[in-house]
Amino acid sequence: MATLRLGDTAPDFTAVTSEGTLNFYDYLGDGWGILFSHPADFTPVCTTELGTAAKFKDEFAKRNVKMMALSVDGAESHKEWIKDINETQATNVNFPIIADEDRKVSDLYDMIHPNADDTLTVRSVFIVGADKKIKLILTYPASTGRNFYELLRVVDSLQLTANHKVATPANWKHGEKVVVSPAIPTDEAKKIFTKGVEEVKPYLRLTPDPTA
Ligand code: BEZ
Repeated sequence: MATLRLGDTAPDFTAVTSEGTLNFYDYLGDGWGILFSHPADFTPVCTTELGTAAKFKDEFAKRNVKMMALSVDGAESHKEWIKDINETQATNVNFPIIADEDRKVSDLYDMIHPNADDTLTVRSVFIVGADKKIKLILTYPASTGRNFYELLRVVDSLQLTANHKVATPANWKHGEKVVVSPAIPTDEAKKIFTKGVEEVKPYLRLTPDPTA
């Protein structure tokens, strides 16, 4: 198994999930995807994460992003756990959770880090673009629940920078000023970014979010 890196093609797979057997690429269609792993069913942090993810589904859908979760427990266990998640998090888990009992997908995506835990998956996140390339990799320990606002924010940045010659600064959120790509000279930038270009330094030029 080779280490996956940004820009690599996300490996395709077919897996049993809480919503039946699914092929990853077919599930994503021509949209974006978030594949994220959980250490185990019936654990507290994972329960809050999956409830939160369900509440974010509409926001991800607006961005043409579908979610698929994973844990190494079985599909029947997932279905029982989903009942608890829905009850305790006041939501409706509405995306598939892979039942990766044979660790096939976990191994494919290197989600088991033996020096952290040799059987359970860590909290991995892979954001996959419409071109099936890996755009973002995040790895959290079992003890830290992820920030789904951050995942939405990153999707906004990835989709903006895929379509415009900009980058996004620290703590950027949709609608805030963005950074002009360093490859574009300021004279040219002023023609491209008709909302205006503010030259703080020759290498640091700001412009309003072109999509806001
Ligand atoms: C949890 O999801 O709460 C959890 C899972 C494994 C280890 C620690 C916490």
